[in-house]
Amino acid sequence: MSGFSVEWLNLREAADQRARAPHLREQALAWLGLAGDAHTQPQAGEAIVVDLGAGTGSTLRALAAPGSQRLVWRLVDHDGALLDEALRRHGKHYRIEDYQSDLTVIGELPLGGARLVTASALFDLMSAAFIEALVLRLASVRGSWASGLYAALNYDGTTVWDPPHADDAAVLAAFNDDQRRDKGTGLALGPEAGGHLVSALTHAGFKVQTASSPWLLGATDAAMVEALITGIAAAVAVSPGLDAKRLANWREFRLAHATSGSCSVGHVDVLALP
Ligand SMILES: C[S@@+](CC[C@H](N)C(=O)[O-])C[C@H]1O[C@@H](n2cnc3c(N)ncnc32)[C@H](O)[C@@H]1O
Repeated sequence: MSGFSVEWLNLREAADQRARAPHLREQALAWLGLAGDAHTQPQAGEAIVVDLGAGTGSTLRALAAPGSQRLVWRLVDHDGALLDEALRRHGKHYRIEDYQSDLTVIGELPLGGARLVTASALFDLMSAAFIEALVLRLASVRGSWASGLYAALNYDGTTVWDPPHADDAAVLAAFNDDQRRDKGTGLALGPEAGGHLVSALTHAGFKVQTASSPWLLGATDAAMVEALITGIAAAVAVSPGLDAKRLANWREFRLAHATSGSCSVGHVDVLALP
């Protein structure tokens, strides 16, 4: 188990797919030879995509396009239940190899021959050491094959609610502190993940592009917004800066506006090509 349930990943799926920056998705597809740009066609055979922290296969769904069924997907996650769900949904229509393993054992990641390494909503959970080691490994394969990295939906630390509440900033600060907690790979980068990824990739010689990919949540996302509010309140419950009464008031106000208000949660998408 990873702490990410199928239910939560289902709840956020529509917002995630809407949020991805379209032009980086298009360029990722082009790099895989699926968007008609002759300069970026893979040399031969089926392109291999390695999705890190694949969950139920959200990136596979995001990159669905004419011809994408000839891709070979290597889905890597330590949560067997999420991988089983990805196989249940897509195993009949895609060529999928599933790897139940810990991403932090970088040397054992199945990157051999990969045209593209992908991840979504992952790097903010990870440490600086993980990102640096992964980028080093991606750069080191360059003599043998060319691998790009498409990392979508890295949380950037911003959340804007409408209507506003006096304690939004205090709750956000406490939440961002919680995002930097050790999630099993050392202190997580949280909101700094996107910037860290960009500088490591640039330093390693990749051509890097970024684009904003916020969740824009309104009335149709009320179930997700309610789960988000409850999750944030639980995450910051032990924060020294917020007493229980203030937090309870904030939670109550937010839940009361979940169907009538709106919310924007900032993310950054990163595409790095050799
Ligand atoms: C926020 S979920 C994102 C899942 C999917 N990429 C998506 O966008 O819906 C993070 C995923 O990373 C996986 N994960 C986190 N840390 C991991 C680790 N150290 N090794 C393997 N998988 C990990 C979790 O099990 C989970 O599936």
